[in-house]
Amino acid sequence: MKQVDRSEKIHQLLKDRTFIVASNRGPVEFRTDEDGIIRPHRGAGGLVSALEGALQTAQVTWVASAITAEDEIMVNNAGGDPLRIPPEDPTYNVRLIPIGDRTYHRYYNVISNLLLWFIQHYLWDIPIWPDIDEGTHHAWQEGYRVVNRSFAEEIVRAAGGDEAPVIMLQDYHLYLCARYIRDKLPEAVIQHFTHIPWCQPDYLRLMPRYMKDEIIEGLLSCDCVSFHTDKYARSFLWSCMELTGYDVDLADSTVQVGPRKVLVSHHPISIDWRQLQENASGEAVESEKPNVLRMAGGKRMLLRIDRIDFSKNIVRGFKVYRRFLDKYHEWWGKVVFVALLYPSRLGLVKYRKYIETLEHEVEELNDEFSTRSWQPVVLSVEDNYSQSLAALLEYDVLLVNSLFDGMNLVSKEGAALNTRNGVIILSENAGSFDELEEGVIPINPLDIEEGADAINTALLMDAGDRKRRASIMAEKVRSHTAEDWLLDQIEDILP
Ligand code: F6P
Repeated sequence: MKQVDRSEKIHQLLKDRTFIVASNRGPVEFRTDEDGIIRPHRGAGGLVSALEGALQTAQVTWVASAITAEDEIMVNNAGGDPLRIPPEDPTYNVRLIPIGDRTYHRYYNVISNLLLWFIQHYLWDIPIWPDIDEGTHHAWQEGYRVVNRSFAEEIVRAAGGDEAPVIMLQDYHLYLCARYIRDKLPEAVIQHFTHIPWCQPDYLRLMPRYMKDEIIEGLLSCDCVSFHTDKYARSFLWSCMELTGYDVDLADSTVQVGPRKVLVSHHPISIDWRQLQENASGEAVESEKPNVLRMAGGKRMLLRIDRIDFSKNIVRGFKVYRRFLDKYHEWWGKVVFVALLYPSRLGLVKYRKYIETLEHEVEELNDEFSTRSWQPVVLSVEDNYSQSLAALLEYDVLLVNSLFDGMNLVSKEGAALNTRNGVIILSENAGSFDELEEGVIPINPLDIEEGADAINTALLMDAGDRKRRASIMAEKVRSHTAEDWLLDQIEDILP
């Protein structure tokens, strides 16, 4: 189906419906510009680009947390009305929910980021960490539940009296929301999409019983629960089988909850590659190119681009590179590892310490191997989108060694943008692995020896093989667009 047909189809399916999307981070974030004026800036994350198509074709209301101080000012100025975005030529509504600092900390840092993120990415070190203590229970009761209720109330308000709005809830921040919405709008059509892995039921059992019960009950209050991959969808079905009394039909991929049949589906998120290419050919990226090439110093460029998160396995990535240098001396002076890393979740001590750990690892590597004409690792810790796009155009090898990763959009962006038939080394535990498998060099993210050999193999790969793999991957990414992703989900709930 052509892009325009897909947009039309989305439009047709949603045209007489009230359509509401909800996520913790919204499509815009208000900030004060240098001239002192508050303006909306595009929200961070792949979700925004993937849903942009729908924003053009449907009258959507997006409900999100008010994150900046300016977000709150805008909400207060609007006096309860939604914000029209973009202000000069509005195509959709945004409702931002002001949440007190302490409540937000409990909901976002303690529960969403430390408990749910860590458990769903298998990041707990259970012999020593974490202790589920009074603080965790309190954060659940006085943070996570409270914010999920606020989202539900705002969504009901956004429905404006429509008894059966179409509601798409996003991610692990909003697991309880559907249940609260159902109490008020029993006829609503609700879908929830989890953008991170869904872990095995035994691992989930480590969570306090009432929390996992509320999560599963919350999700099963939807008409459809979706994930990026078949594996995560199956883990969810098994969790329902083992942790609830509901009938699960694996063949049908459904869970029978009283009179309702809940569909469990999987739809890998895509990137808006046309928009990405347009961004990558802009002036800002052009002017970053010389900087990026300077970082690589005329050597072969091994690249990684990541949000600084434990799931990305960044420190072990440097260990892999160290082993590669130890084992393959012939590459000394000929390769530079360019690591472009985005600070993230700085409200948590754990994340701040992780930055120190990886900086230390890089310092040691550079101390040990640097010569007068070669620095083996160049590290940049900043949020610099243009720099990242310039690097994606230019890498020779892209390393994605996530421990677990819901999807991993960097691997897809690299496949869509790179101009050198660059090779991608990809963790078997990244969601994108299912789609890119044929083109990548697969690695086990814990296996240092395999990772080191993979870098050598990638650098030695002949031009024909690189070209063949690069075109397979580019074709994969381009043949499944962000609009396909959205349409597939809408067809699950409005067949
Ligand atoms: O990977 C899922 C995801 O929700 C991404 O969309 C986003 O990059 C990240 O997790 C959440 O990051 P943050 O905590 O900065 O909102």
